[in-house]
Amino acid sequence: TKLNMELAAIEKGGYEHFMLKEIFEQPNTIYDCLRGRLDANVPNIVMSGIDKYAQQIMNAPRIIIVACGTSWHAGLIAEYIIEETCRIPVEVEYASEFRYRNPVVNKGDVIIAVSQSGETADTLVAIENAKEKGAIILGIVNVVGSSIARVSHAGAYTHAGPEIGVASTKAFTAQLAVLTMVALKIGHAKGSLSIERFQALCKELADIPEKVELVLQQNEAIKALAKKYKDARDFLYLGRGYNFPVALEGALKLKEITYIHAEGYAAAEMKHGPIALVDENLPVVFVATKDAYHEKIVSNMQEIKARKGKIIAIITEGDAVIPTLADDVIAVPAADEIVAPMLSVIPLQLLAYYIGIAKDLDVDKPRNLAKSVTVE
Ligand code: G6P
Repeated sequence: TKLNMELAAIEKGGYEHFMLKEIFEQPNTIYDCLRGRLDANVPNIVMSGIDKYAQQIMNAPRIIIVACGTSWHAGLIAEYIIEETCRIPVEVEYASEFRYRNPVVNKGDVIIAVSQSGETADTLVAIENAKEKGAIILGIVNVVGSSIARVSHAGAYTHAGPEIGVASTKAFTAQLAVLTMVALKIGHAKGSLSIERFQALCKELADIPEKVELVLQQNEAIKALAKKYKDARDFLYLGRGYNFPVALEGALKLKEITYIHAEGYAAAEMKHGPIALVDENLPVVFVATKDAYHEKIVSNMQEIKARKGKIIAIITEGDAVIPTLADDVIAVPAADEIVAPMLSVIPLQLLAYYIGIAKDLDVDKPRNLAKSVTVE
């Protein structure tokens, strides 16, 4: 009815789709997630649920992150961050594999479940099993009072607000914000993170909402890119280090929203297979912001260019090298590599969205997908 249509339009807050609204909400949702927890001036991070278990987390023989889909990608980034800042071994598992493969879980192990809905059946059962074996369960969940939040011993909500678009966007960046705070907090408490580095990273994190705002100003440029590349049959997404899981997430977004075949790969691993796919028809998206891996990814880019692949690169503002190699670039503000994924993923979300629009698809409800998978 007309009334229903008007109500739906109001819910979308002036945006054409929930997905676009949720992408544009990210400066606020990340801010809300940090607010009341991170004080970059002291610096200090307060997270009541995590504080209670800080000692056990610090002393944990290992941390296992279990999740599905986009939340699993947030877990992969967290693996890199936690190992770097806390020096605790981390494994990241698909919840569906973890729950069925009789994994070794010991008393004192810390299991972190990452879930937007808090209702994903595989993730829920995975933590129930691990809880029985004496592990400490932390839930990083968006929906307050959800099943995963209730089964967990402690945790932290992502406070991103309701996410309606089936493909996750704002929940992902909020998960990264929370997981980064947990890592910094534990690394600081343990002493594996120097005071100076802790201070610098708290400041970097506090600056993220403003920088996301700047990335969103590239909206029109990304829309134009989408028109240019919408008819490609396949896409390859490449990244290294903290940006490797971002490449996986970019490829997942494209598949979900546009039904274009896309693969994410660790850039150096490309030589072991995917490079065979490269020709003048293949767009290759490089997530190549300035970090410790920068030179390496530039040489991967040269390898693609030599085979005539079309290069789209997400770069750091001021990068003078990559624009000479790439066909198209989208620049994001400079940021420490640990927090950079919260910026570099935004253009990939928008690219998927606008290609979906250019192909006239239902971006909020892609075919065959469910918002939360409560059956196995
Ligand atoms: C579904 C959704 C994805 C989501 C995944 C995990 O596949 O379509 O967007 O990433 O489930 O969901 P969760 O609620 O556990 O994060």
